[in-house]
Order: sequence, then C-alpha cells, then structure tokens
Amino acid sequence: MDALRAAGGPDERLSLVAEHSGQVVGHVMFTRSLLDAPRRLVDVQVLSPLAVRPDRQGRGIGSALVRHGLKIMAERSVPVVFLEGPPGYYARFGFTGGGAQGFRKPSLRIPDAAFQAVRLPAYEPWMTGTLVYSEPFWRHDAVGLRNPDS
Ligand SMILES: CC(C)(COP(=O)(O)OP(=O)(O)OC[C@H]1O[C@@H](n2cnc3c(N)ncnc32)[C@H](O)[C@@H]1OP(=O)(O)O)[C@@H](O)C(=O)NCCC(=O)NCCS
Repeated sequence: MDALRAAGGPDERLSLVAEHSGQVVGHVMFTRSLLDAPRRLVDVQVLSPLAVRPDRQGRGIGSALVRHGLKIMAERSVPVVFLEGPPGYYARFGFTGGGAQGFRKPSLRIPDAAFQAVRLPAYEPWMTGTLVYSEPFWRHDAVGLRNPDS
C-alpha cells in the first residue's frame, strides 16, 4: 500500500475508505497503469486492493466502495479500469473478461477468468492492447498467482 501510495501524483490514484462509528471498515484503491495500445500508451487504472473488515462483510460496503470509485474514474475520464478478481463478484459492477474485450493480461499467472475490465465513457474503440501494471505490483510480486510447484 505504501508503495502504491508513493507512485504517481494524487490525481493518478484514488483511495476510498468506508467508516462506521469512527472506524475504518472498508478500503479500495485505484492506481494508474498503462495500456500498451497500437496508437499510443493509454493511462488506465487498476482496482486493487479491495477489502472489507470480515465482521462487516455482506452489507453492501464493498459494492458502495467500488461503485463510488468507478463514478470518480468516469469523472476523471479514465477509459478503462482493470482488476484481478472473482467474476462472480465483479460482474455486478459491469466488469467482464478482459480478453474478450481486446485486452491482453500482463502475466500468464493471471487466470483468464480473473482478468477483468470495465470500459467507461472515455473509452474509444482503438484502445486495445496489453495491460502493463505499474512498477509497485512487480516489485512486490503481487501479480497473478505464483505456483511454487510448477
Ligand atoms: C470481496 C469483498 C470486498 C466484498 O465486500 P462486501 O462488503 O462483503 O460485499 P457486498 O456486501 O457489497 O456484496 C456481498 C455479495 O458479494 C458476494 N461475494 C463476496 N465475495 C465474493 C467472491 N469472492 N465471489 C463471488 N461473490 C462474492 C457475496 O456472496 C454477496 O452476494 P449477494 O449480494 O448475492 O448476497 C469482501 O468479502 C472482502 O474483503 N473479502 C476479502 C478480500 C478480498 O477477497 N478482496 C477482493 C480481492 S479481488
């Protein structure tokens, strides 16, 4: 989290918390990454991490954080938001498989179904290509799933 916070300017990331009785019960972060599109590099955002305190889960907090974050991303004219996660959860926010939308995942270690994207109003059809995560994700080996037995 510290590395993500240190990367880029304040308008290139977003951190939202949910509070209850003065305590933080949920958090979501969006950080800038790049889409290596044929025409040029495109600034996109990666939603990661998202977490709700276990004793507060299932009450809509995660949904509220994601929806509010996506609204701000749209207002900032971000064309695409990517994430790694369970499709069963993120489909409700409009995320679908990134591969079927013309995007290539940044690592073979990300399961196809987990690589998801949502296109926002600033998206244009030429924006295809490979997602390149920002440097902290690589430095902390936080991309995809590592299989020590392979
Ligand atoms: C995933 C998480 C952020 C959801 O937050 P939340 O506040 O509990 O979510 P909401 O209350 O908005 O939504 C609850 C719904 O999500 C579903 N859900 C939660 N985790 C899910 C998962 N991994 N896959 C599919 N559905 C999931 C619940 O079954 C529930 O479904 P319902 O609306 O049909 O009842 C929270 O469970 C969490 O912090 N998990 C641990 C960290 C994590 O997995 N983060 C995401 C990594 S990609």
